[in-house]
Amino acid sequence: MTNHKRFWKRERAAYRVLIVICAAVLVVAIIGVYFADKSDEEYVAVSEEDPNRIENGIHLRTGLVEAEGLMETVTNCTSCHSAKLLTQNRLSKEGWVSAIRWMQETQNLWDLGDNEEIIVNYLAKNYPPESKGRRENIKKINWYELQ
Ligand code: HEC
Repeated sequence: MTNHKRFWKRERAAYRVLIVICAAVLVVAIIGVYFADKSDEEYVAVSEEDPNRIENGIHLRTGLVEAEGLMETVTNCTSCHSAKLLTQNRLSKEGWVSAIRWMQETQNLWDLGDNEEIIVNYLAKNYPPESKGRRENIKKINWYELQ
């Protein structure tokens, strides 16, 4: 073999290696695009969180206590104002009924039908007037001398 022929043979081998590498890169890229598309589809399928999730006995969206009548109260009493108006107004059964009557007469609150008793019972039981809204005064204090 002459030097000239040997040179061209080596050159062709180098080209072949180059073409194989290019083909491999292309295959990897195509596979990558294929799988990237797949994972996009999975993201679309993720569902929203439950708006009525309850954790540690508290309805997270409104902060109301989980008990019988919770969902009736959430549905009827938190669409116009925050549930804080319920939790901050601790009332007796009569007090809750008169608050409802006042809203029905002046604020366009609808007739609650059978749900009124369920809601009033829920509120009077879980947000009654005698419950302490604040912590008690501290009774035992250990004073100490500042050095
Ligand atoms: C149609 C709208 C609407 C709905 C529904 C509604 N309220 Fe009200 N409520 C109001 C308005 C308006 C006020 C006055 C808000 C203010 O003073 O800023 C109010 C005030 C209150 C107050 C405070 C009253 C006071 O004397 O300060 C309480 C307690 C209350 N609502 C409880 C409830 C309960 C319990 C329900 C469910 C049965 C309910 N609300 C549903 C409109 C509504």
